[in-house]
Amino acid sequence: MAVRRILTYPDTFLRERSEPVTNIDGKIQQLINDMADTIYHTPNGIGLASNQVGEPCRIIMFDTSAKDEPNDLVVLINPEIIEGDGLIVNEEGCLSVIDYRADVKRSERVTVKGIDREGNPITLKKEGLDAIVLQHEIDHLNGILFIDHISKLKRELYKRRLKKKLLKERDSSSQRL
Ligand code: NI
Repeated sequence: MAVRRILTYPDTFLRERSEPVTNIDGKIQQLINDMADTIYHTPNGIGLASNQVGEPCRIIMFDTSAKDEPNDLVVLINPEIIEGDGLIVNEEGCLSVIDYRADVKRSERVTVKGIDREGNPITLKKEGLDAIVLQHEIDHLNGILFIDHISKLKRELYKRRLKKKLLKERDSSSQRL
């Protein structure tokens, strides 16, 4: 079991576009296992993208059954949204955006194609929460966070609050006698 550290905003690595996986080798299988360990180890974690754990490749996974045990894990390599329709607004949070949740507008239904961990091409048609998670995780691979979808005012308020929190943490951690 290897739980990976999750990068958090404002880490600039989260802003980079990740590169497609060209060879599903042992290293990629290990990364997938580690990502699964990380999701099930993290309270309220239902989805994860590989660049959130510092790997600049295109892998996402999610399990919206919201259990702490592997239940219904979907792993997708090089995922791509090929169709989306409808509109759904849902309050989102993210393992990489600490202490914040906000309403985000997404497509209500999406069709996504990608490759499974055995290398087989797959097409998923999802709606509701699964569709939201797919869009959220694929955004990650393109360097986009859910806070990019909210108003500038809300985003600035969050940035200010986070800055204060991080400064406070830095101050208290420097007080070592
Ligand atoms: Ni996220």
